[in-house]
Amino acid sequence: MFVSVAGSAARVPTRWRKEVERILITDDAIAQRIREMSREIARDFKGREMVVVSLLNGTVMFLADLIRNLSLPLRLDFIGVSSYGAGTESGDLVFTKELRLDVRGRDVLLVDDILDTGKTLFRVLAKLKALKPRRIKTCVLLNKAARRVEKVEADYVGFEIPDFFVIGYGLDFAERYRNLPFVGVLHSHVYKQVAAKPASARKPAASPRS
Ligand code: XMP
Repeated sequence: MFVSVAGSAARVPTRWRKEVERILITDDAIAQRIREMSREIARDFKGREMVVVSLLNGTVMFLADLIRNLSLPLRLDFIGVSSYGAGTESGDLVFTKELRLDVRGRDVLLVDDILDTGKTLFRVLAKLKALKPRRIKTCVLLNKAARRVEKVEADYVGFEIPDFFVIGYGLDFAERYRNLPFVGVLHSHVYKQVAAKPASARKPAASPRS
């Protein structure tokens, strides 16, 4: 599903109008798409007990909505990944939480919020494959194909988005805006202000790319 550069016509709630330039994907559109993705995943994993492995922290909302729509037996675990570096570009990846469940011989669904350069998914996939699961399928809410550096694609994609730095629905800028129910584009004055300050964990205080 491709979301146009213009995004949604929905109005940004008054509370967020100074910081959020526009809504790219509404909460209704997200909910509808997640129901479709869940049906597809349920079909593919039918008859198997799956292990859902979700990357912290950006998947928090997506994961919750996705798995509540999945009526399959599943177990859930998390991997923590942080990227440190200067500016917008992610630097070295650091694992802040390791997987605890044994995935050997299991069917794994790896969930992330956004596939951007692909560096994160690439690294995490390599790590998971070494644990010898039966198969791994990848699922992301957003795909920003224009910025891809690593050769990696997701099996399930919620929305194809243009090259904007997006926030909301779990996605942050300097750890803020995760609680917005929609996916939106930040006003440039916000990231210009914050870019001068110390970094956040998953992604450093980054200047959004747009
Ligand atoms: P890569 O580049 O490794 O990115 O595919 C994966 C992680 O980087 C973060 N990311 C973003 N976070 N808005 C965000 O809030 C964005 O536009 C964005 N692009 C990348 C995110 O944590 C993702 O999992």
